Amino acid sequence: MSRFKPFPQALVKQALWEVYAQRERQGGSPPGREFWLKIGREVEVLHEAYTEREAEFSKGENPIHGHLGGYQFYYLPRNLFRVAHVLSRLNWRGTADGPPFPPLVGGRLRIADIGCGSGAFSLAWLGWLGQENLPPLEIALVDQGRRVLDWAEDNLRAFARLYLPQVNLTISRHTQGVVSFLRENGGDRFSVAGGGMALNELGLQDSGRGNHVHRMARSLAGLVTPGGLGLWVEPGTRQGFLNVMALREHLTEETLVYPCPHGLPCPMKRDRPGHWCHETPPLPMDFYFDQELRDWGGVGFSMREVNLSGLAFRVNATNETSRLFQKRPGARVVSERLPARGSKSSGKSQDKVVMVCTPKGTLEEQPALSLPARTRGWFLDGAEQVPMAGDGPIVSLHPSQQMGDQPPARTRPSVKKSNEVKSHKFQKPKGNKNKTGKKSGLGKNKGKPKWSRKDTNGDTP
Ligand SMILES: C[S@@+](CC[C@H](N)C(=O)[O-])C[C@H]1O[C@@H](n2cnc3c(N)ncnc32)[C@H](O)[C@@H]1O
Repeated sequence: MSRFKPFPQALVKQALWEVYAQRERQGGSPPGREFWLKIGREVEVLHEAYTEREAEFSKGENPIHGHLGGYQFYYLPRNLFRVAHVLSRLNWRGTADGPPFPPLVGGRLRIADIGCGSGAFSLAWLGWLGQENLPPLEIALVDQGRRVLDWAEDNLRAFARLYLPQVNLTISRHTQGVVSFLRENGGDRFSVAGGGMALNELGLQDSGRGNHVHRMARSLAGLVTPGGLGLWVEPGTRQGFLNVMALREHLTEETLVYPCPHGLPCPMKRDRPGHWCHETPPLPMDFYFDQELRDWGGVGFSMREVNLSGLAFRVNATNETSRLFQKRPGARVVSERLPARGSKSSGKSQDKVVMVCTPKGTLEEQPALSLPARTRGWFLDGAEQVPMAGDGPIVSLHPSQQMGDQPPARTRPSVKKSNEVKSHKFQKPKGNKNKTGKKSGLGKNKGKPKWSRKDTNGDTP
C-alpha cells in the first residue's frame, strides 16, 4: 500500500468537478464568474450556519442537503483531508510481515461509511489505498438522505474511474438511519467502519443517553472484522472532542491506535476541563477549489488549516489476521507551544513548553526544544511523515485561465464572521494579539491558556 505517496488531490478535484458539472448541467463548458459566485454564495450559507450553530446540528438538520454544491467544493475537501490526515497518523509500520490491507472479508476490502454525506470518508480511503494490487473493494454508504447518497456514489465512481480504473468496485447504498443500520446489520462485518462529522446529529451528548452511546459504540465495533479498523473523525472543537470521547469510553475491548498513547481514561478530559485534544494540520497552498472560490466566488474566509479530533481503534483478534494497525509508541504533543509556567513570556523559543500525553495516561509539560516533535498532534516516536501535499499539477478551473479575464474586484460584502474566523485570514498575529486575533486577556477567554480556547470556526460541519 502506498502509504506515504502524495494524496491524489488533483484527481479527486477533477472527479468532484466532473460530478458537479454532470449533475448541474454545466456540461463541458468552462465555469464562468456566475458559476463561482453561485457556489460562493452556497459556501457562505453553509459557513454562516456552521459558525452560528457551532457545527452542532440535531437530527437531519444539517444544511448539507440543501447546498450540495457549496459542500462539494469547500467542505467535502476539508472533511476528506481530515480523514486522510488521521490515516497518515496511524502506525502502518505494523504491516512489515502482514498483508498490506486491512483484513479482507470474503475476499473483499469492505468499507462502511456511516453518515456518509457526499462521501468524504470513503473518498479519503480510496485516495489513501493507492493503486497497486488492490483487492476487490466494496463500499457501503449509509445516510438518511437519498440525494447525498447519489452524490456520494457519483463522487466515488468518478474518482475510482480516474485513479483506480482496474479496481473491482462495488457500492451498496443504505438509505436509513445510522442507528437502525448498526442494529440491523445482522453480523455483517467490514475491514474498516466509521465516518466523520456526524456525531452531533446522532445525539451522543444528549443527557441521559449513556445507553444510546454505549449501543452506538458497541455496534460500531461490532461492524469491524477482527484485526480491522474503526475510525471516526470529527471537527477539532471542544464539542467534537467530547463526542469522540463519548464513543471512546465504550471501546474498552478494542485497542486504541489513534490518538491516545494509552488506553486509560483521557487525562485531558479528566484533569483539564475546558481543554480538548485536537490537531490543526495546515492545508496545502493549492487546496482543491480554494483559489477559485477566493478569486471568483467571493469567499473571503478560506482558512489555511483545519481542526480535527479523531479516534481509531483496532478490533482485536484471538488469532491475529492482520497486524496492520498498531498503537504508536511513546508520547504525543497535545498543545501548541506555550510560555513556560512562571516565565516572563519573553517569546523566546527556549522558554516554550508543550503539553504531552504519555503512555502512562498522564499529561506532562515539557520544554519544547528538548523534543523531537513540537507540533500539536505529533507523536514523539520520531516517525512523523507528512504525506498530505497535493500531487500536482492541479487542474485549474479558474476562469482567468480559460477566458483571459482578470479576477473581479471584491465588491460583495463578506459574511458576518466569528472572531475565530477572522483569525485564520492569513493575518500574522500582531503586537499583543494572540492567534485568535483577540487581545490577550479579553473576553470569555480571559485567564485561559491559549490551547484551551474555544475554537469553533465555521469550518466544521
Ligand atoms: C455533516 S454531514 C457529514 C458528511 C460526511 N460524513 C462528511 O464528512 O463530509 C452529516 C451527515 O450525516 C447524516 N446523518 C445524520 N444523522 C443521521 C442518522 N441518524 N442516520 C443517517 N444519516 C445521518 C446527514 O444526513 C449528513 O449527510
